[in-house]
Amino acid sequence: MTSKNNGRGLWASRMGFILAASGSAIGLGNVWKFPYITGQNGGGAFVLVYLACIFVIGMPIMLSEFTLGRKTQLNPVGAFKQLAPGSLWNLVGFMGVLAGFLILSFYGVVGGWTLAYIVKSITGSSVHFSSPKEAGEFFGAFIANPGEITLYHFLFMSLCVGVVIKGVHGGIEKACDILMPTLLLILFLLMLRALTLDGAMEGVAFYLKPDFSKITPEVILIALGQAFFSLSLGMGAMLTYGSYLPEDENLISATFYVVLFDTMIALLVGMVIFPAVFAMGMEPAEGPSLVFSVLPAVFSEMPMGNAVSVVFFILLLIAALTSGISLLEVVVAYFIDEKGWPRKKAVLAMGAIIFVIGVPSGLSFGIWSDVKLFGMTFFDHADNIASNYLLPLGGMMTAIFVGYIWGTDSAQSEIERHKTRFHWVKVWAFLIRYVTPIAVALVFLAKFFK
Ligand code: PFF
Repeated sequence: MTSKNNGRGLWASRMGFILAASGSAIGLGNVWKFPYITGQNGGGAFVLVYLACIFVIGMPIMLSEFTLGRKTQLNPVGAFKQLAPGSLWNLVGFMGVLAGFLILSFYGVVGGWTLAYIVKSITGSSVHFSSPKEAGEFFGAFIANPGEITLYHFLFMSLCVGVVIKGVHGGIEKACDILMPTLLLILFLLMLRALTLDGAMEGVAFYLKPDFSKITPEVILIALGQAFFSLSLGMGAMLTYGSYLPEDENLISATFYVVLFDTMIALLVGMVIFPAVFAMGMEPAEGPSLVFSVLPAVFSEMPMGNAVSVVFFILLLIAALTSGISLLEVVVAYFIDEKGWPRKKAVLAMGAIIFVIGVPSGLSFGIWSDVKLFGMTFFDHADNIASNYLLPLGGMMTAIFVGYIWGTDSAQSEIERHKTRFHWVKVWAFLIRYVTPIAVALVFLAKFFK
C-alpha cells in the first residue's frame, strides 16, 4: 500500500520540524565522534575542512532530501518509486532503510553506554579517578560486561521505541521541542566551565588555530564522511522527516537552520572538550574512548565533578536519543507506507529486531571480541558497512537522481511552492550535479586504491 499523507501526521509547527530534524542530525556523531576525530586529525585544520564539506556538499544534499520527502510525502523507497516508477531507483531508498537498520543496531549500543554513565555518575562510581588511564580501565571493564551492556542497550532501544510509537507529532516533535533547547543550554554552561579551567587556552588554540600542513587527502576524506554521518544524510532520514512537512514550509531556510544548529553543537562540544583535555594535560588524539574515559577523569578533578558528569551524560543521551528516533522512524515509515503495517506493530517489531541484531555488536568489546570476520568485530562491520559505504553511496545516488533523473527544474518548482524564491538555485544545481557526485566518487576511489 502506498498511502499519501493520510494518517501519517504532519509537524505541528515550523519550529517543531526544524528542531526534530536538528535532533536527528545532532547525536553521538557530534558529541562523541567529532571531538575524537578532530583530536586525531590535527585540530583546527580538520575543523576547517569539515566545515567546507558541510556547506559545499552536505547542505545541498539536505535540501534535496527535504524536497524529495515533501514532494512525495513518502518513505525513501516509496519516494523513488513514485518519481521513477518501474526503475531500479527504489533500491536507493531500500539501501537507506537497510542503513537505518544497521546504524541503529550499533548506535543503540553506544546509546546504552551513555545511559549507563548517567547512572554511574549519579552513584559516583565513574567519577573518582586519579588518572585518565584509570578511567580508561574502568570503561574497558564496563564494556566487557555482557549482562550490563545488554541491559542498558535494551533500555536505550526501549526509549526510542516509546517515542516513535507515539508517531510524528505525538512523540518525536514533542520530545525534540523540549530536548533541543535544553541541550544548547547545557552545552553552553559546560563550555563556560571548561574555558575557566587553568590552561584551557592551549586547548582553544589547538582547536581553532589551523595548521595547514595537517591537511592531507586522508584528512579530507575523513571530514567528508563525518559530514554525512553528522547531518544524517545519505539514507533518507531527512527525506522521511521532510515527508511530514506541510506544503507551505520554506525548505531553504529549514535546511539552513538544521545545518547551522548541527554545526554549532559540534563546534560547541569541541569548545568543551579541548580546553578541558589540555587543561588536564591529556592527549587530544585519545580516540573513540575520549568521551567515556578521558572526560570522567576530567570530571574527577573538578569541583562538583559528579554533577557535571551527570549533566554531560544526560546531554549525550539526549543527543543519541533524538538521532536514534530518526533512525527507527526511517525503518518504521517504510513498513507503514509500503507494507501497510499499523504504526504500533511496525515500531515494536522493528525495535525488537534491531535490538537483537545489535546484541552481537554490544558483545564485541567483551566476550565476543574474538569473533571476527576479516579481522573486524560485529560492531566494526555494522559501523563500517553503514557509515563508510551505504551513506556516501546513498548521498551520491540522491544527488545524481535529483540532478539528472528527477531534474533540478522539478526540484526547483517544489522548493518554490508558495512564493518562496530560490535565489541560489544555479549554485545549488551546480553543486548537486557536479561537485557532490565527483567528491563522493573520489572518496570511494581513495578507499579502494589505498
Ligand atoms: N547524525 C547522527 C549523529 O551525528 O549522531 C547519526 C545519524 C542519525 C546518522 C540518523 C544517520 C541518520 F540517518
